[in-house]
Amino acid sequence: MKKVVLVTGASSGIGRDTAIKLNDRGYLVYGAARRLDRLDELVPMGINVLPLDVTDDGSMVKCVSSLVEKEGGIDVLVNCAGYGSCGAVEDVPMEEARRQFEVNVFGLARMTQLVLPYMRDRHSGTIVNISSIAGKMASPMGAWYYSAKHAVEGLSDSLRMEVQDFGINVVIIEPGLTATAWGIIAADSMMKESGGGAYSALAKKLSDRMYSYYRTQGRITSASVISALIVKAVEAKHPRARYVGGTISHLTLFTRRLLCDRSFDRVIRKFTC
Ligand SMILES: NC(=O)c1ccc[n+]([C@@H]2O[C@H](COP(=O)([O-])OP(=O)(O)OC[C@H]3O[C@@H](n4cnc5c(N)ncnc54)[C@H](OP(=O)(O)O)[C@@H]3O)[C@@H](O)[C@H]2O)c1
Repeated sequence: MKKVVLVTGASSGIGRDTAIKLNDRGYLVYGAARRLDRLDELVPMGINVLPLDVTDDGSMVKCVSSLVEKEGGIDVLVNCAGYGSCGAVEDVPMEEARRQFEVNVFGLARMTQLVLPYMRDRHSGTIVNISSIAGKMASPMGAWYYSAKHAVEGLSDSLRMEVQDFGINVVIIEPGLTATAWGIIAADSMMKESGGGAYSALAKKLSDRMYSYYRTQGRITSASVISALIVKAVEAKHPRARYVGGTISHLTLFTRRLLCDRSFDRVIRKFTC
């Protein structure tokens, strides 16, 4: 019997690459997102697609129930849907801050709630939450993204201990800069929110750097490195709690552990401000 996988955020980047890799490896894959035209590109490969907006409870319920109706259950959930909301804390409207948490935290949590009864029934399952090195550190102009990823880390750690006795694994993936659409969306939001006020010089400097990294994409980790880590976690008999993706990510988190807060601030400010 093929294992049934649901990948959210499958219309682009890490989620898309993960859906393709798992499909190639013989899993029965469902890819979900809002942009159906992008999802349709996966259909000829044999991937099933479902509409999903993780800010809409009805859409999440419908997505999981239609999958379970067809397949009788679910073995793996990869929570990949997310985006980067940037800008200074003083500038970002609270409505946008709430939206960031709605997509990156509450959407992931609700999808998890919806699949857990089916995983408990089978006494097995794996939930993979795409966090970030941003869940372990911070830099200026991304407070809502960083705090949302910190929340994903805490939520996943609690969940892992709660569901262990039901035979369910919870895995956190921590990518660093990865060559997807994420960076341009994040840099655009930084300029939108902070491009014109007291923080404009910093916003311009940081977003210019992000545009240069994410437009050329050569100097940052390829999405396939991260999707390979996700596959490794899904296929591990005893997966680790966390997998860090990308060489610079390891170095950054090592430096974070090594230095006190003030010293780490100095390092980050040296590279950003
Ligand atoms: N790229 C990086 O540098 C990086 C680094 C660390 C962590 N991450 C994390 O990796 C995950 C995947 O991002 P990515 O880099 O692959 O970026 P991406 O290429 O922009 O993909 C983001 C995916 O999320 C989906 N999504 C966004 N809002 C949604 C919503 N309301 N409902 C359902 N789906 C939604 C998008 O689909 P639709 O727009 O079609 O709905 C898209 O498929 C995110 O959680 C991100 O925070 C990325």
